[in-house]
Amino acid sequence: MDNQFAQRATIGSEGRLAQLFGGQLGNQGIKFSAGNPDPNSFPTDRMGTAINSVLHQTGNQLFEYQTVVGPNSLRTQLAKRMEKTADIATSADQILLTAGGQQALDLVGKLLLNPGDEVAVEAPTYVGALAAFDQYEPTYYDIELADDGLDIDQLERTLRQHPHIKLLYTVPDFHNPTGITMSIDKRQRLVQLADQYDFYILEDTPYRDLSYVGSPLPAIKSFDRAGRVIFISSFSKILMPGLRLGWVTASPTIVNKLRQLKETNDLESPALMLAAVDEFMKTNDLDHHIATLLPSYHQRLTTMIDALDEMMPKSVHFTRPTGGFFIWVTLPTGFNAADILDQVVIPQAQVSYVPGRVFYAHQNVTNTFRLNFSGVEPTEIITGVTRLTNVLIPLLSQPTTFKAAAPVKSTVQNHH
Ligand SMILES: Cc1ncc(COP(=O)(O)O)c(C=O)c1O
Repeated sequence: MDNQFAQRATIGSEGRLAQLFGGQLGNQGIKFSAGNPDPNSFPTDRMGTAINSVLHQTGNQLFEYQTVVGPNSLRTQLAKRMEKTADIATSADQILLTAGGQQALDLVGKLLLNPGDEVAVEAPTYVGALAAFDQYEPTYYDIELADDGLDIDQLERTLRQHPHIKLLYTVPDFHNPTGITMSIDKRQRLVQLADQYDFYILEDTPYRDLSYVGSPLPAIKSFDRAGRVIFISSFSKILMPGLRLGWVTASPTIVNKLRQLKETNDLESPALMLAAVDEFMKTNDLDHHIATLLPSYHQRLTTMIDALDEMMPKSVHFTRPTGGFFIWVTLPTGFNAADILDQVVIPQAQVSYVPGRVFYAHQNVTNTFRLNFSGVEPTEIITGVTRLTNVLIPLLSQPTTFKAAAPVKSTVQNHH
């Protein structure tokens, strides 16, 4: 019977996301493979107060069917906040509340992509977006990343060769998985190219407020005059992922279409959570809450960079982000980070990372991996990096053992 599944279910079973959670760690395990915010930072009591308060204020009515777009009051608060923190001019009626950023990614794929439609993506890029888009069977074009964001010249060359590219997906702030941030200049050039070659930009920004050095840059959407930038964000990293709340702002036509697609998917997001977050933002200063997160994440980032600087061999390169949750590591050409994880790093060092292959549209680069620092205490970070480098150093000096069958090179320009 199972051979009757639709094509997209077969694509899903290839399991981009499944590869994220592989590997068994024992009690002494140190998990650099997660992408989680620190649960100790969650304002659980204050969210409880907000939930009780909306239950008390609204009663039964809260549990009736509501509107698919979510409460006007929360959308108004988000519109004001986006104006203040991202320079985006928007309004409540141009916002759709979604079940996390992930649902918004899926809805945008559903809205724009027919099989074979051409999509440009960063190489590497967020695996959850690739998993969502895969279902719609696009043709991907990889755009390399420099340390100031995607290679705009390469994008322009690709657009000249493939002028029908319909969508460019980017995580411009503290990118997952590399931590890289796109410069302002590139943000502006990207919008100019989108105007010239007539494509949509999907700007995915769950980490934009988690800037540990200086302020976040203006959003790409802030340079959009033609309504071609679809901006997605989420409460997952700045508040709590279990809320399952994200949002999209885009032109009224796009938001209206996304609303229709969401309606066929789940009718609406859970009203209790939407009302509670609305109340939370009225009675608490979200920006103050975010500010309280930054010192601890910054310390974890610095601890990891210092440990890598001190211990990693010079042949191993890594990014130096100034925000977000991740550092991206590139081993010398030809090493296979997935085999090394399974055969050496997990069994001998009891440390996990995410092998980089899943983050590439074509899963064709094997010598990279992602380290998460936000979910690990500083002392554990030092222990984990020590254990990791202790097993990597001897292995890298015997280059034949873990070479990939077909050597491939990382496309990210890192600095050590
Ligand atoms: C770049 C990016 N986009 C979207 C998401 C989806 O997050 P959520 O659905 O929890 O909002 C994540 C989560 O890790 C992410 O890193």
